[in-house]
Amino acid sequence: MRAKIIGTGSCLPDRCVTNEYLSTIMDTSDEWIKSRTGIRERHLVSSETETTLTLAVKAAKAALADSGVLPEELGLILVATVSSDFITPSTACMVQKELGASHAAAFDINAACSGFLFALNTVDAYFQAGIYQTALIIGVETLSKIIDWKDRSTCVLFGDGAGAVVVKAAEEGLIASLQGSDGSGGDILICKNRTNNNPYISTGTDPDFLYMDGQEVFKFAVKKEPECINALLKQAGFDASDVTYYLLHQANFRIIASIARKLKLPLEKFPSNVSHCGNTSAASIPILLDEVHREGKLSEGDLLLLSGFGAGLTWGAALLRW
Ligand code: UT7
Repeated sequence: MRAKIIGTGSCLPDRCVTNEYLSTIMDTSDEWIKSRTGIRERHLVSSETETTLTLAVKAAKAALADSGVLPEELGLILVATVSSDFITPSTACMVQKELGASHAAAFDINAACSGFLFALNTVDAYFQAGIYQTALIIGVETLSKIIDWKDRSTCVLFGDGAGAVVVKAAEEGLIASLQGSDGSGGDILICKNRTNNNPYISTGTDPDFLYMDGQEVFKFAVKKEPECINALLKQAGFDASDVTYYLLHQANFRIIASIARKLKLPLEKFPSNVSHCGNTSAASIPILLDEVHREGKLSEGDLLLLSGFGAGLTWGAALLRW
């Protein structure tokens, strides 16, 4: 049995922050951000009632409603995030409590922007092993809390949000997937946790902000993502043109356009929401999937290819039948 997506949901914070607004609080411009990334605006949490947990729960409830699955029917809840509200308990366990999904096992996955794909692959492996039959996967981030708002080269890129899918074990769903990691390249996108602090050693306790070498990440993305997509298509025995839609990690529209060019495919096959969401890391692919689904663009039998890359370094791709 394979993982079949049977419901989607998403949630963006209420506050929409435009490039124009950012240009009034830092040395940047709408023109610079739009031309380098395609981003026009992003949503940021702006009240105590908006947290990683509340965004995740809203997206999860929407996905459950879309699927018709009840919380008690869930066997597994996986949350992909690098910006949970607590180090422990996991966001997945907190979501479980909020939903009353009392029969589920729940844990978080940290694979940065590839996290949703790693979670989908994990669920699929559990289904293939016959361990679970129904799962909820959430990608959620409030990256705005770990971003350095004095670093204009990163803070304009990211947004907050959550996307969720309900997945059932079925004869047909996920067809093939690939995932990979290269820890040796990890220093180009990092965010340190607390450092040593005990009676023997104290090196400071303040957590750090996110640091990114944008150009190196860009080079990594435009090389690794098409390689991963081509390897997956070859493994599954499909041509690039067989795929109905490519739902890629929404980091930068120039990266998406570069991948479309390398695959020799029209941009129409690459739906994008980076212009109004910015980069929402682990949430970007499920938010995009939910938008495309709710806009009525998907028909039963469509072939979807989901792919992304991120800190770690990590990358992944999944080919599935809608
Ligand atoms: O999911 C995580 C994945 N992350 C990514 O995918 C990010 C990948 N990288 C990128 O998308 C691009 O590298 C960026 C959008 C981050 C940067 O674009 P770039 O074309 O590589 O610009 P750059 O870093 O080379 O900066 C060019 C100039 C610099 O000025 P000088 O040194 O040429 O005078 C920067 O200081 O742009 C300046 N700059 C800005 N100017 C206005 C950097 N940030 C800004 C800004 N507004 N926000």
